[in-house]
Amino acid sequence: MNPKEFAFLHIFHLVALLVLTGYTFFAFAGPADTRRRVLAITGIASLLVLLSGIRMWQGVFGFTAMGWIFGKLGCWLGLTAMSGLAFRKRESANTLMVVTLVLLIAAVSLVYLFDPRLIH
Ligand code: HEM
Repeated sequence: MNPKEFAFLHIFHLVALLVLTGYTFFAFAGPADTRRRVLAITGIASLLVLLSGIRMWQGVFGFTAMGWIFGKLGCWLGLTAMSGLAFRKRESANTLMVVTLVLLIAAVSLVYLFDPRLIH
């Protein structure tokens, strides 16, 4: 993978994550008539996180099976489910927001604790 594509994928991955995070938290408080638009945005952002992550996994690690990648996939699955849950389970918003934060912190920590490229 050339350095430009690599840099682009990192930016893409993180920008999609920012959009996913922002709109997921909006989903906990947004009015019901915003549901369709918010779920469309989080759905697309989530797909872009996954695709950019898979492309980096392939390009950097040749799809080597590593625990931290599967951990991130688990966090990603939880985060992807969250905006739908946020509109339906308003009574559990506080708990679900804590779960969302924990999933985000876990996914970011996995990279910096276990990615062999980033630990020295
Ligand atoms: C909730 C979801 C996720 C979060 C919060 C997250 C976060 C991050 C962060 C912070 C980086 C580091 C960028 C850097 O400083 O180099 C990164 C890189 C990466 N992510 Fe994700 N990610 C998520 C989901 C995924 C998924 C689902 C995959 C794979 C299927 C994935 C694969 C990767 C790969 C391969 C890298 C590049 C590591 C490297 O350059 O050595 N990520 N991610």
